[in-house]
Amino acid sequence: MSADTVTAEQLTISEVTKVYDHRSGTKALDDVSLTIRLGELVVLLGPSGCGKTTLLRILAGLEDATSGRLSLYGEPVVDTGRNLSVPPHKRGLGMVFQNYALWPHMKVVDNVAYPLRTSGLGRTEARERALEMLRSVRCDHLATRLPSQLSGGQQQRIALGRALVARPGIVLFDEPLSNVDAQLRKEVRTEIRRLHAEIDFTGIYVTHDLQEGLELADRIVVMSHGRIEQIGTPEEIFTSPISAYVAEFMGIENKTGVRRRGGVVATGFGEIEATGDLAGLPEGVDHDFYFRASQVRVAADGDSTAASSRSGGWTVADMVYAGGHSDIVLTRGEARLLCEGTFEPSARLEVGAEVDIEIDTAAALLYPSGGDER
Ligand SMILES: Nc1ncnc2c1ncn2[C@@H]1O[C@H](COP(=O)(O)OP(=O)(O)O)[C@@H](O)[C@H]1O
Ligand SMILES: [Mg+2]
Repeated sequence: MSADTVTAEQLTISEVTKVYDHRSGTKALDDVSLTIRLGELVVLLGPSGCGKTTLLRILAGLEDATSGRLSLYGEPVVDTGRNLSVPPHKRGLGMVFQNYALWPHMKVVDNVAYPLRTSGLGRTEARERALEMLRSVRCDHLATRLPSQLSGGQQQRIALGRALVARPGIVLFDEPLSNVDAQLRKEVRTEIRRLHAEIDFTGIYVTHDLQEGLELADRIVVMSHGRIEQIGTPEEIFTSPISAYVAEFMGIENKTGVRRRGGVVATGFGEIEATGDLAGLPEGVDHDFYFRASQVRVAADGDSTAASSRSGGWTVADMVYAGGHSDIVLTRGEARLLCEGTFEPSARLEVGAEVDIEIDTAAALLYPSGGDER
């Protein structure tokens, strides 16, 4: 389907480019196209500066696109070619930003009722709906408190309630949890997923936090330098990163340069056998090979498989108990690998021990070298 096939069941971002500084011409967004289905919870994921907030602000109408089109529910709201830009308050969006700033002088219930009051709803009805929303975010017992009498997590939930109370069809979140501590982040994340199922809104959620993206998203959009790098379910993105950039962002622990010659592959830590996907590498072409700590194990004698390659001469440099498994740091000259071990008595290892390792090559992540130098 082309990005311009617009239906009422979706929002469509078409060829959106944003240049803030026309002298340098740097593109904060570079030809971004994306279709979001109604009801989806989409996470825009990427490091700081990749253009996430810019895209959200253009959706909200708080920033103008330099070029491109945008439609909500099949209705065009931005079209730079026609000088069309529907003002923010007519786009029917809810927003939760990093600085959730509840009105300090207003009781919780009045904070939540505020968007309803400004849209003209009577006092009693606004209050009733605010209380109902407070029950949804499990804060109805806090209705008569002032924001200063609440914890950070409670404040953030109330901000969530305030953003959702007018039942906007589309809700934009810009790193709303980055000022909240780790435990509360988890709690509010669960809350957002539950509310998403219960209230049925379309969510676009910006974060640079991988774990947050994986936990929240129906679909993840990985961004890099103002462009979309990969779109997929959390599982697709996590297991099959499309580029070295995404692999790095997924936190894959081990990486080495590889080059195949016949049945042998040269790596940063000596030669290994060309097993598994390594056997399919084009001969003589440099690639980067990424593999997880869970794809490396300390080898016992004779347990090579058809889809693993053995490498000898490694030293156990460090071992850390990580609950359920151990993280083992292995070194061989300058090379360093992270490996997951067990705590079975038979696998007892000591720091300083010399070991062979087996690297799983069945689902190898291989990318042509130098392909990610943007
Ligand atoms: N108001 C602005 N004026 C000039 N440059 C900006 C402005 N806002 C953002 N940028 C630049 O645009 C790029 C993308 O920024 P942003 O969308 O905030 O990224 P993110 O939210 O992913 O961290 C960055 O290089 C940033 O410096
Ligand atoms: Mg941002």
